[in-house]
Amino acid sequence: MLFLKLILLTFIATQDTFVYGGNIITCKGDIHRLACDTGLIKVQSSVYGRTDNTTCSIDWSYNNAVNTSCSLGISTIADRCNGQRVCELKTDSFDTPDLCPETYKYYNTTYECIDGRVTVICERGYSTLDCGDTLIQIINANYGRSDSVTCSSGLYNSLVLNTNCYSPNTRSAVVKLCHGQRRCTVEASDSIFTDVCTGTVKYLTVSYTCIELKKSVTCEHNTAILQCGAKLIKLISANYGRTDSTTCSAGKPYNQIFKTNCYMPNTLKLVEARCEGKSSCEVPATNTVFSDPCNGTFKFLNIGKLQSVKTSRGRLILPVFKVYCICEFIFNLNINSITMVLLKFTLLTLFITALDLHVSGKTAITCDRNVLDLTCATGVIQVKSSVYGRTSRKACTFNCTASHFDSTNCVFRTFTIADRCDGLRHCNLRTDLLTIPDPCPGTYKYYNTTYNCIPGQVVLICEQEHRTLSCGDNAIQIINAIYGRADSTTCSNGATTCVTKNTNCYAPRTRAIVASLCNGQRSCTLEASNQVFTDPCVGTSKYLTVSYRCFSVPWHCPRQATKTLEQHKGLHIHT
Ligand SMILES: *[C@@H]1O[C@H](CO)[C@@H](O)[C@H](O)[C@H]1NC(C)=O
Ligand SMILES: *[C@@H]1O[C@H](CO)[C@@H](O)[C@H](O)[C@H]1NC(C)=O
Ligand SMILES: *[C@@H]1O[C@H](CO)[C@@H](O)[C@H](O)[C@H]1NC(C)=O
Ligand SMILES: *[C@@H]1O[C@H](CO)[C@@H](O)[C@H](O)[C@H]1NC(C)=O
Ligand SMILES: *[C@@H]1O[C@H](CO)[C@@H](O)[C@H](O)[C@H]1NC(C)=O
Ligand SMILES: *[C@@H]1O[C@H](CO)[C@@H](O)[C@H](O)[C@H]1NC(C)=O
Repeated sequence: MLFLKLILLTFIATQDTFVYGGNIITCKGDIHRLACDTGLIKVQSSVYGRTDNTTCSIDWSYNNAVNTSCSLGISTIADRCNGQRVCELKTDSFDTPDLCPETYKYYNTTYECIDGRVTVICERGYSTLDCGDTLIQIINANYGRSDSVTCSSGLYNSLVLNTNCYSPNTRSAVVKLCHGQRRCTVEASDSIFTDVCTGTVKYLTVSYTCIELKKSVTCEHNTAILQCGAKLIKLISANYGRTDSTTCSAGKPYNQIFKTNCYMPNTLKLVEARCEGKSSCEVPATNTVFSDPCNGTFKFLNIGKLQSVKTSRGRLILPVFKVYCICEFIFNLNINSITMVLLKFTLLTLFITALDLHVSGKTAITCDRNVLDLTCATGVIQVKSSVYGRTSRKACTFNCTASHFDSTNCVFRTFTIADRCDGLRHCNLRTDLLTIPDPCPGTYKYYNTTYNCIPGQVVLICEQEHRTLSCGDNAIQIINAIYGRADSTTCSNGATTCVTKNTNCYAPRTRAIVASLCNGQRSCTLEASNQVFTDPCVGTSKYLTVSYRCFSVPWHCPRQATKTLEQHKGLHIHT
């Protein structure tokens, strides 16, 4: 029996148009609860304070309720609830500024319920948002934990206890990746989003809608009629002029249609003035409306408008049933992750069985502050689980009194060992250099790592060099990638010891970057440089170690990587 290592859930919440959500009042200290029977929450306004003398005044003296001109618009509730179907917040966990300390206040939130989908990705998992031929519009996103149930299966309680964990800027990071795209893959990972609650297993929730791009083309002297039915027009582009020689060319002489670089810069503004926010509008395609950008050329008005798309009535859908998700799933199958949520799915099982040709498992016990040593005679390391703590009285007991190893219920699952050792043939780690939280002070701990040796190729690229990974007709699957320095001998030819002595240097996002460049490709070229991976240790000469394997791809699976090498360099230059 084989299980998947992460769960992907997509809910399609639907309603023909907007469902009115309503207006919720919560006295300070109570639980603020917003819910949508159908659709997703979209907060319109949220006010903290007091604007009348009756609401939330029951148990309070007159004085506490008398100031009725105290109100502060707040965004916390929108940030946390938008895009959810049900949202419960403990208002006493907010740190809202107090405008009127003498007055007993309440929260007043007005919200609506809108069409949308929600995808939940457990920490270290991947998922693809897909809008088919339409475009993704992100409603909201959070990386953290707001309940103790989601992505909790098989985990110790202590890892899911913190339910007030919200990573700032998650939404803007997902917007950068996905907004306006037809499909995009997101990874729930500390390397992309900020970890604001170390020691808690997190998940990424992304809510989005699909927006259709409609086009309208109108030949000169005619009138464009835009209609959105019950919805409102939103424009994204418009041009009056000529950009090709075929559109609106019937019966026209060559000299009126050969000029194809004719643009009227103000077109969008002028069309917006007539149409934006209306359900229908008319725009004459004439020089009187737009003035003439190219005298003598027969022109046309080309308008791209956005409009919300109705989704079909929804139920729980597992996107693994969709072809593209199966592809992504395999490319990005996160072999580092511990079995977090178990989900059986036969079709995928077939693929994964074919991939995971692992050799028998090994266990390594490493006493705290000693050197951890994993080795594969054939293949490369794939850490299955790594626990820091103590579960046995037998291991690592030397030189300690009984009190140092009495406690045998001390467990901290760490991913650091997998991050640093996966994909290598030999891995030597000084555990005293690891910054892993202490799960049980006073107890002498050890690392219990189980790992397999799996087929894989390893490529070493010294700083400033390029190498190409290639899988012939098959597709690359990245096992791991490490940029930095873990020993003083690799790529040290002719170098002074100063630049090789830091052997605890790891760039944080390396695996995700390499995966986005190479996964699913036949070949890909990598450059070991700070421009691509950022510089984790200035003054140290670094190298990139990439391990990968090749597998055959079902015919329907796309091969585009999400980013090019140049784009990755660009990203770091600008930030
Ligand atoms: C509450 O406000 C209303 C209208 O402003 C006023 O008529 C009423 O007397 C007030 N009640 C108290 C208890 O102050
Ligand atoms: C009520 O609170 C607001 C905000 O602090 C303050 O400006 C106003 O003077 C207060 N009004 C009364 C009657 O205390
Ligand atoms: C709550 O906010 C809504 C919308 O701003 C407003 O109409 C309503 O009067 C407010 N209710 C209270 C009790 O403040
Ligand atoms: C446009 O072209 C016509 C004929 O070539 C000419 O008579 C007219 O003056 C031109 N108009 C402008 C604004 O250049
Ligand atoms: C190490 O972990 C394995 C698998 O979880 C377990 O069976 C074994 O007892 C552990 N060993 C020690 C010494 O804790
Ligand atoms: C145990 O203690 C002795 C004496 O202090 C020391 O020589 C030895 O290295 C220690 N052993 C370990 C494994 O730490």
